Amino acid sequence: MSIHVLAPDLVSQIAAGEIIERPASIAKELIENSLDAGAAHIEIAIEGGGVRKLTVTDNGSGIARKELVLALAPHATSKLDAAPSLEHISSFGFRGEALASIAQVARVRLTSRTPEATSAWQLEVATGRGTLEPQPAAHPPGTTVSVEELFYAVPARRKFLRREATEAAHIGEAVRRLAVSHPAVGFRFLRGTRIALDVPPGTAAERVRAVLGAEFADHGLALEYTVGPLSVTGWVERPVHAAGRADPQYLYVNQRWVRDRAVAHAILDAYRDVLFHGRQPAWILSLEIPPELVDVNVHPAKHEVRFRDRRAVYNAVRTAVAAALATTRPESAAMPVTGSMPRHGASPSAPEPRVGNFDWTALAVRDTAPDYVPPVTQPVPEASSAAPAPTPAGGLGRALGQLGTLYIVTETADGLALVDTHAAHERVLFEQLKVAWDRGGRTATQKQLVPAEIRLTPVALERLLEAGDLLQRLGFELDRIGPEIVAVRAVPAVLESVEPAVLLRELAAALDSEAAGATFVTAAADRVLADVACRAAVHSGRRLTVPEMDALLRRMEATPRADQCNHGRPTWIRLGMADLDRLFRRGR
Ligand SMILES: Nc1ncnc2c1ncn2[C@@H]1O[C@H](COP(=O)(O)OP(=O)(O)OP(=O)(O)O)[C@@H](O)[C@H]1O
Ligand SMILES: [Mg+2]
Repeated sequence: MSIHVLAPDLVSQIAAGEIIERPASIAKELIENSLDAGAAHIEIAIEGGGVRKLTVTDNGSGIARKELVLALAPHATSKLDAAPSLEHISSFGFRGEALASIAQVARVRLTSRTPEATSAWQLEVATGRGTLEPQPAAHPPGTTVSVEELFYAVPARRKFLRREATEAAHIGEAVRRLAVSHPAVGFRFLRGTRIALDVPPGTAAERVRAVLGAEFADHGLALEYTVGPLSVTGWVERPVHAAGRADPQYLYVNQRWVRDRAVAHAILDAYRDVLFHGRQPAWILSLEIPPELVDVNVHPAKHEVRFRDRRAVYNAVRTAVAAALATTRPESAAMPVTGSMPRHGASPSAPEPRVGNFDWTALAVRDTAPDYVPPVTQPVPEASSAAPAPTPAGGLGRALGQLGTLYIVTETADGLALVDTHAAHERVLFEQLKVAWDRGGRTATQKQLVPAEIRLTPVALERLLEAGDLLQRLGFELDRIGPEIVAVRAVPAVLESVEPAVLLRELAAALDSEAAGATFVTAAADRVLADVACRAAVHSGRRLTVPEMDALLRRMEATPRADQCNHGRPTWIRLGMADLDRLFRRGR
């Protein structure tokens, strides 16, 4: 086979194929051009899923008559002039290829008028060829690009198009992505005669609400974080509301929508402790970073960027999201149900009693020597017979009693709250274990007088031994005494009450599922800690005393992310007076 140079038409078609995958790619390129042209209003209209016709109209700077031909020519751009080099790109466009590529695969009519011009001019192109003389036309200042019969000359591509409704949905998504990051620009999207989106210029929050709906806006936690030259702003969804559905996960780098696995991972990493497995939080994150610290010339459709310092970006995003999620503690203004609670006062005055099988006092974080071993038992304090304080103590209020053995009922400043005892306890424990872990301290250990000998499958045993260091730090002392038998000499004090065989199998399972994903040691530790906390959490078998309940409430108030348990379920809900009035249909 001999080597020969490809025909220019084929070269252009190949290049166009990289940028124009489907009608939505055209919508994206044209809207970006309108934004680069400083438009204050952009209208997108489609027919037949955007394949038959796709039109974008703007009121931006327009194109002068003498430049219309150039605008459609390959490698012709007005935008790199403004930037000193490829390293300082601040516009969406810079390749000078989009219009030329579109004209390669569809019929394009370009109509434009600059503010100074007395009339508009129009040019038509098909398969890269067209009238080279602009014709006069009627158009207000601004530009309309009309694209018809997409891929009419590229049957191979046509075959890959989906149903009209699917293509229209993709276009809708492209419009939403750009509309969300440009709240100051009005957007209108017409599907046939139907207005699918019509948003006036407004604030970022208004735009998010208008485009992504009240559901997301109401359940989003706003975040704002700056470190060095990098700033992160946006919204993340409250973990309680996150679901498996396909919710928006929009990342913008200098207002450009991009995909970035590292950033997505950083976000999930921040959610790790509070999200139920398999659930996907919705989020919108916007990174502002000096152009020279990010390379946008990586992907033909510019869907990816390369950061100069990936680690810094990763850390900044994780920190920003984690900080926002940490604000979801019970006394914060953002409530799982409605309204807000008063901030609670000082730390608990009640004793810290044993709750269920778990010793609160042993868990309190202390600066201890690594081999600190707490007292084995602590007396259960007597329930105080003193009169309860007349006003609710903190944001979660004063415990009134228990509903069955599952829920604590409390009186708050503004109504009542119900707390899921088990879930709340698990949450508090997990956070405390984590603090102890992060400080490098070993969690308190309970030596076994007679080591339990437990038979495990070889795989499970292998997992446990592999994680030896981790388990030791958690307070386990394990010895392999046979091919499938392990002796348990010590366990974390908080797990004392759990049957060792059950505990080890749970641990092996936790380590196993963790090993399946890409992990860091800390991720494994967190998983194990979550399991540990879950196991140790108070079980729904015993009624608590009022001081025990109050102690748990005060702990919750002092614990970050206490609004949801380790599985993303809420730990408590409130019913304010207004909610009660509503339930009883009482006008206030
Ligand atoms: N809506 C518009 N308003 C004003 N000028 C436009 C508009 N659309 C295109 N242009 C002009 O046409 C030129 C070519 O546009 P095209 O999209 O092909 O390339 P680009 O935006 O410069 O780069 P890229 O290929 O990266 O998008 C632009 O540089 C701009 O000068
Ligand atoms: Mg462009």
